Amino acid sequence: MVDASESSTAPPTGPGPAPDPEALALSSELLSQIQAEVASGGGFLPFARYMEQVLYAPGLGYYVNGLRKLGREGDFVTAPEVSTLFGATLARWFAPVLEDEGCEILEFGAGSGRLAGDVILGLEEAGVSLRRYRILEVSPDLRQRQQAFLANRLGAERMVRVEWLDRLPEAPIRALVLANEVLDAMPVELFCWRDGRVWQRGVGAGESGLVFADRLAPPALDAAAREFQASFGPWPEGYVSEWRPTVGPWLHAVAERLERGLIWIGDYGYPRHAFYAPERVTGTLVGYYRQQLVLDPLAWPGLMDLTASVDFTGVAEGATKAGLDVLAYAGQGEFLLGAGLPALFEQSVAGKDDPKEIMQLAQQVRMLTLPGEMGERFQVMVLGRDCALPPASFPDRRERL
Ligand SMILES: C[S@@+](CC[C@H](N)C(=O)[O-])C[C@H]1O[C@@H](n2cnc3c(N)ncnc32)[C@H](O)[C@@H]1O
Repeated sequence: MVDASESSTAPPTGPGPAPDPEALALSSELLSQIQAEVASGGGFLPFARYMEQVLYAPGLGYYVNGLRKLGREGDFVTAPEVSTLFGATLARWFAPVLEDEGCEILEFGAGSGRLAGDVILGLEEAGVSLRRYRILEVSPDLRQRQQAFLANRLGAERMVRVEWLDRLPEAPIRALVLANEVLDAMPVELFCWRDGRVWQRGVGAGESGLVFADRLAPPALDAAAREFQASFGPWPEGYVSEWRPTVGPWLHAVAERLERGLIWIGDYGYPRHAFYAPERVTGTLVGYYRQQLVLDPLAWPGLMDLTASVDFTGVAEGATKAGLDVLAYAGQGEFLLGAGLPALFEQSVAGKDDPKEIMQLAQQVRMLTLPGEMGERFQVMVLGRDCALPPASFPDRRERL
């Protein structure tokens, strides 16, 4: 094992409030648990396990510890948090498919519940009566927040159609599956390319906290990284990147249940050639704390979101292996503009005469669609089984994968 010793648990710096004592106590309890795991692993914890723990360790991980995450007062803002027009556009675009397919939606990782609320109301406005909206959320805390938010937003009558699942349903489903910014929250393995070898980068124990540590990569990680380097390298010495082994099994599990329907995935990411380009020397892994980017992934375990971009070529490959069709791939901006956002915007400003409100809506559309905002960084992929896409006028970017 080689100590890379290039990181510490230095907290993020910059504006924004420091964590309060209660949050720091949570973080230090999680740190102790992780240190114990490092010790029992002989001084090495694979990064994917570290990421799983800091995000999902029961009661302590970032997504389950009860601290505020999403929205302007949280750590990051997602597309459904930017504007209700996001969910409304999805609803309007998918309405014809849902009408045909028995009107059922399964959403993964519903965050605050905003997307669910906007989609349910959007479908109602489009005249589609939804039979069931099911949410599979791994965080018990977020699940509770979703229940409270949706009860308030939708009212009791609509709420009877919303259900929460602990795991994928056993029975085959005919549904539209939604996963916005879920894949980026799935753990990644880190690797480093050095001396013509692939090193697995994990977490070790330093004198004053956690440090990065490297060991020779296990076979699956070694094979994946060598294939990427052969196709998109040569990489410079010390090149660091990520590999997400969980996406294939996730797609496989969903595909196994999906008898007929579509899977819509939205996330930040790239086609593989751009993900593993030689110039991306430090990979894509980052943390978010109170809207600030934090470059040290080992800082404040459990208090900041850790996320890495999605390799969309990998998603397409995993989908094909699982027997799904890859039906569409486009930037979020061009997808939304082609799927009906402009008409919904016109409709929402039509009855308004407060210029401030109109400006706000226009600003939300810019944020969702402009290339310098979320328009290009975020990508959309639609997979399907035995189901055609609804008509749309966004470009087909599948050749980029
Ligand atoms: C970055 S948040 C996105 C929330 C929401 N979709 C949005 O766009 O605002 C990630 C969400 O995915 C959930 N999550 C992560 N892995 C998951 C999995 N394997 N199955 C279901 N939910 C998951 C998290 O608990 C969280 O709710």
